[in-house]
Amino acid sequence: MNTNENTNKNQNKNQNTNPKLVIIVGSVREGRFGPVVASWVAEQAAAHGGFEVEVVDLADYDVPLALPAESPKFAGDAYPRPAGLAPLTAALDSADAFLVVTPEYNHSYPASLKAAIDWHFTQWTAKPVAFVSYGGAAGGRHAVLHLENVFTELHAVTIRDGLAFPMYFTGWQDGAPLDGQSAGYAKTLLDQLSWWADALRTARAAAPYPA
Ligand SMILES: Cc1cc2nc3c(=O)[nH]c(=O)nc-3n(C[C@H](O)[C@H](O)[C@H](O)COP(=O)(O)O)c2cc1C
Repeated sequence: MNTNENTNKNQNKNQNTNPKLVIIVGSVREGRFGPVVASWVAEQAAAHGGFEVEVVDLADYDVPLALPAESPKFAGDAYPRPAGLAPLTAALDSADAFLVVTPEYNHSYPASLKAAIDWHFTQWTAKPVAFVSYGGAAGGRHAVLHLENVFTELHAVTIRDGLAFPMYFTGWQDGAPLDGQSAGYAKTLLDQLSWWADALRTARAAAPYPA
């Protein structure tokens, strides 16, 4: 299967159903905070009502750092991924939109996230990606700036509005942000993501993306 065929694998999905949103938990660190943020984000997405929501936790997968010789960009479905990655690849394939939940490690995003990204290519193409970040003073903004650059290379469309939680250790309690504004910002982000998810799903169905 060539790249274009693979890119448009889900083009025949029913356009009348809600687009599929895959929320990715990017950190796999022992004692990580990521699942707390992802769980709150998933609640916001469910309340939004515009998506079918699936949470993908990278800690559930053994994602090798050593990649095969060829590139997933050209290999398509023939790319030799370990069998254990199949559910992850299937989830990414099925997505109409992504929401990446990322911390900041040394002014960037975790290696776990980069490994998962690099094992795939067509799975990201012509799909929208939004970000929710957390960390120290910068709230993960360095991580998101780097991710925006990476996803542009993958022909994904990054969403301008994001949510950043600086000093989350004082700003969160009982699984939710203490401020009264974050849910509203999440709604705006999800509205934009929904718009792009619908638009790009329609576009992928209409014509192969010229990757
Ligand atoms: C290796 C490492 C590097 C970090 N570097 C930064 C950083 O550059 N900026 C920042 O705001 N926080 C930094 N932090 C703090 C993390 O954002 C914070 O520990 C957060 O909880 C990590 O997410 P996690 O718990 O989901 O792994 C760092 C944490 C670790 C473990």
